[in-house]
Amino acid sequence: MENIKTMTMEWTGKSLILIDQRYLPLEEKYIECKNFQDVAVSIKDMVVRGAPAIGATAAFGFVLGAKEFINILDKKLFLKNLEKTKEILSKTRPTAVNLFWALNRMEKVLKENINNKTINEVTKLLEDEALKIAYEDIEINKKIGKNGEALLNDGDTVLTHCNAGALATVDYGTALGVIRAAVENGKNIKVYADETRPYLQGARLTVWELMKSGIKTTLISDNMAGWVMKQGKINAVIVGADRIAKNGDVANKIGTYSVAVLAKRHGIPFYVAAPLSTIDIETKNGDEIPIEERNSNEVRYCHKTRLVPEEVNVYNPAFDVTPNDLVTAIITEKKVIRSPYEKNILELFK
Ligand code: MRU
Repeated sequence: MENIKTMTMEWTGKSLILIDQRYLPLEEKYIECKNFQDVAVSIKDMVVRGAPAIGATAAFGFVLGAKEFINILDKKLFLKNLEKTKEILSKTRPTAVNLFWALNRMEKVLKENINNKTINEVTKLLEDEALKIAYEDIEINKKIGKNGEALLNDGDTVLTHCNAGALATVDYGTALGVIRAAVENGKNIKVYADETRPYLQGARLTVWELMKSGIKTTLISDNMAGWVMKQGKINAVIVGADRIAKNGDVANKIGTYSVAVLAKRHGIPFYVAAPLSTIDIETKNGDEIPIEERNSNEVRYCHKTRLVPEEVNVYNPAFDVTPNDLVTAIITEKKVIRSPYEKNILELFK
């Protein structure tokens, strides 16, 4: 399979090059991950972020693990080393289920082939699987876009939270993919982007990539969303997801829940755009979704500037859970589903 190169990531066959999202939009820097440890650090430190992008990155990390151990003659040892690789990659971030989904997919290819193929052949199959995950992600996002854009009217203004765009996926995006597809279909769509404190994915990344694509974008701080809705400026909210439970509860970037409550209050549809790989039917409901807590300095500092008294207590959950009753519809690559979610989610997997 051909190597892949997008704005977010490039697989060279020997390494994974990632755009360093920590510096955007001020600087366009790249990091080259030459081994699986580099990949693990890049996910943990948010060089790369966004559920589908994390999944694809981890898959390439797994391949780098295999390549590192390719000269081992003992298959048992090869398997053991890859088990360790998987464990290290899976400990990077807990909430986005795409990470575990991608690693399980890689492990399945490994286990199905290790007994009757050489280590070299298995490594090649693993590389093909990671590339497949990456290429599929783009196709899936385009299908999500197509299904979702039917929900938007010409002239609509959409509010989005965090970054569920090309940068959060291999390319095209989920929530922003829906907006892209509507624009590609000739609809005039405007976007309001929440800045998304504390990490500012909206202000730094969503605004950057939408402006690059020529989509009319207005930035607001998170606490303005309610007032903007009250003024009648928003026709729909579209966000991505890090994990959707079997009952349709949605974990996404902190602040999503508040936006969903506000949308309900103002009678605005609240859509979640996500691939099937983000739906975790092993997780019964939102209470079971692990919510990552990140370093308090993300709240204390804006870049290198401390904004608050040094000793202040900080609570920094990176995600929240929006209960399914606030979700108007979930836009997947298969179809758009609505309540009752549990029944309709299970049907997606039949
Ligand atoms: O902490 P992040 O930046 O990885 O969080 C990203 C989000 O919450 C996105 O909305 C989600 O992963 C969907 S990306 C298509």
